[in-house]
Amino acid sequence: MNPNYKNIIGKDILEAAHYLEQGETVAIPTETVYGLAANALNEAAVHKIFAAKERPLYNPLIVHIKGIDAIDTYAKEIPDLAYRLLEAFAPGPLTLILPKQDIVPDLVTAGLAHVALRIPNHPLTLDLLAQLAFPLAAPSANPFGYISPTTAAHVAKQLKGKIPYILDGGPCQKGLESTIIGFTEGVPVLHRVGALDLETIRKFVPDIKILDKAEHKPVGPGMLAHHYSPHTKLELTPNLDDSLSAYLGQKIGLISLSKKIRQIESKHQIQLSLNNDLEEAASQLYAAMHYLDSLGLDIILVERMPEIGLGISINDRLERAAAK
Ligand code: TXA
Ligand code: MG
Repeated sequence: MNPNYKNIIGKDILEAAHYLEQGETVAIPTETVYGLAANALNEAAVHKIFAAKERPLYNPLIVHIKGIDAIDTYAKEIPDLAYRLLEAFAPGPLTLILPKQDIVPDLVTAGLAHVALRIPNHPLTLDLLAQLAFPLAAPSANPFGYISPTTAAHVAKQLKGKIPYILDGGPCQKGLESTIIGFTEGVPVLHRVGALDLETIRKFVPDIKILDKAEHKPVGPGMLAHHYSPHTKLELTPNLDDSLSAYLGQKIGLISLSKKIRQIESKHQIQLSLNNDLEEAASQLYAAMHYLDSLGLDIILVERMPEIGLGISINDRLERAAAK
């Protein structure tokens, strides 16, 4: 806690830039989730991110850059496929892991020889990046292991007194973290499914190697089995009715795609998309988890999404949120 940190929420890019230039952290909006940003080239500033999040130093940070032209300042040996993906999806919810240039501090990459780079697609943050003389290291703006924030209010609640400024860009449009592709093993590797769905990626990279969750040695908590979790116990189920009977008599919360359950109080249940639209569901998921986690329930039951499109990404996050 820092008594000078008032958690000011505002829309002032100049004020955000001022704090960042002073080596402070600022929460920034992106199209995926809010990030907790600092000057990626200033180790003391980057340390403040780890401190505010209580994030272990072995977990590397994504560096947010202003445009494709900036990429070779921070990465090298960039394959053509990486450029083709950027041309198709940047700015957007795609992060690439590439061999790093020396200018990127080891603290940012947790000592790895590779850096994760992304061009976020949010007008305020793109304006901010255009004004700054440095890129922004930014993990999701949540305490270590907790649900990612998709509104400024989520950030304010979780990081109270720990950061000086929250740049409010409204609710995040995508609502799930970026998809991460690595180019460090000779072949493109999917490190994390996310807001860019697997089927779309496969159109560009048909033979993308997918890391097997069981054999994958985690390089960071985003890839650890247990992450993105509410404090309330969460169960992911393919069949709501069966799971429901196991918890009768308890205070139950429900997240479903579109189904309503009569036995559960209506204010304790969230339908992510009444039209069964998985994009809408993704954008609503974390807000639903934040809300239900604030109610002091015994259990949050979540219906498994169909394994297509963004349903695959949503299920990935839910599996981690449910893991012990
Ligand atoms: O959508 C997003 O990606 C959001 C917004 C703020 O950009 N950021 C985000 O950051 O989700 P974070 O730190 O919560 O998750 C990034 C993941 C972590 O699991 C981290 O271990 C991995 O990316 N990562 C970062 N740099 C890496 C590197 N050099 N090599 C391998 N993994 C890396
Ligand atoms: Mg995160």
